[in-house]
Amino acid sequence: MAKKTIADIDPSGKTVLMRVDFNVPLDDNQNVTDDRRINMALPSIKSVIERGGRVILMSHLGRPKGDGGDAKYSLKPAAAKLAELLGQEVAFATDTIGDDAGAKRAALADGGVLVLENLRFNAGEKSGDADFAAALADGADIYCNDAFGTCHRTDASMVAVPQAMGDKPKVSGFLVAKEIEYLSDAIAKPERPFVAILGGAKVSDKITVIENLLGICDKVLIGGAMAYTFSLAQGGQVGGSLVEEDKVDLAKQLIERGGDKLMLPVDTHCGDAFSGDCNKVVVEAGKIPDGYEGLDIGPKTAAIYAETVKAAKTIVWNGPMGVFEMPPFDAGTKAVAQAIADGDGTSIIGGGDSAAAVQQLGFADQVSHVSTGGGASLAMLEGQEFAAVNLLDEK
Ligand code: 3PG
Ligand code: MG
Repeated sequence: MAKKTIADIDPSGKTVLMRVDFNVPLDDNQNVTDDRRINMALPSIKSVIERGGRVILMSHLGRPKGDGGDAKYSLKPAAAKLAELLGQEVAFATDTIGDDAGAKRAALADGGVLVLENLRFNAGEKSGDADFAAALADGADIYCNDAFGTCHRTDASMVAVPQAMGDKPKVSGFLVAKEIEYLSDAIAKPERPFVAILGGAKVSDKITVIENLLGICDKVLIGGAMAYTFSLAQGGQVGGSLVEEDKVDLAKQLIERGGDKLMLPVDTHCGDAFSGDCNKVVVEAGKIPDGYEGLDIGPKTAAIYAETVKAAKTIVWNGPMGVFEMPPFDAGTKAVAQAIADGDGTSIIGGGDSAAAVQQLGFADQVSHVSTGGGASLAMLEGQEFAAVNLLDEK
């Protein structure tokens, strides 16, 4: 999957239309609370402007409904954050293909950066509308996809826009190239042992990932609330834990298929309420008393998982082991993160919750790669192909 990158083209005096994923969290005052996705796009943006090109950035933010309450989904705060991180002025258009975008595109000088308003303010983005795509592509010399977090989508800016570019160059940005290198290439030819750690609330979110990884990993470690659905499948007691009753049969099948490869918790840290200062008890897995719910893997499980992870040469992690936001139920997630930091394997952390966990627990700089994609990194681990990546130019 060797795609041309922005380094392979000469942007001097040209307009680069770059799809980024600036779908970042905002607080009530419209401040960007996590700028990682913006930061990670800087190398591609700088590479164009430092070589005398012009950059038009397009992204979505959130899932606006077109119901009049959409102002909170404006990309303006993200554009302001970008200006701060770049240390230069960034123009902002209050529309995508309207008069303001047209005027600001025309006024863009070499070395300049323009951010268009939220693509999803136009219904054509989600529907992949060809006219919307053609209007976005109009006047651009080069298309660049640096929006890894959105690569599993077929929104207009991801697929119809590069298609509308015709024979003009369509390349990946450095962020997308790096994500593909880790998530796809490293997994296709892993150094072994190859261990996957999967957590989070729902089995249903991870079925395909578990199935795919059981086929290629040496061990798949299960944590998070989905462990309780597996527990039910083994006839265990789960007390008031979060479970998916309708996924019990599926969990049975995965247990059968997984054999020794699939590792489930042997103990559980429970509480009698969803709070850090509730009454707590550690029990054997499948023996959660009534009135209690599982909130983390127990210490024995944490030790076993840590040993397994330390010995691994390739590690993929998606989903926390427990309620890491609520100490002491962060202990299991911390133990796994510490083991990754202590080991010498290549470690790939999925976006979303797992990225937040390693960030919050202070391990982000001790892993090989933290993905900027939640759904996209999961889709890659499922073995999905991305139309948005496939149509980029080959090296
Ligand atoms: C994400 O954060 O998952 C990506 O930006 C894609 O957003 P979406 O799930 O709303 O398509
Ligand atoms: Mg998503």
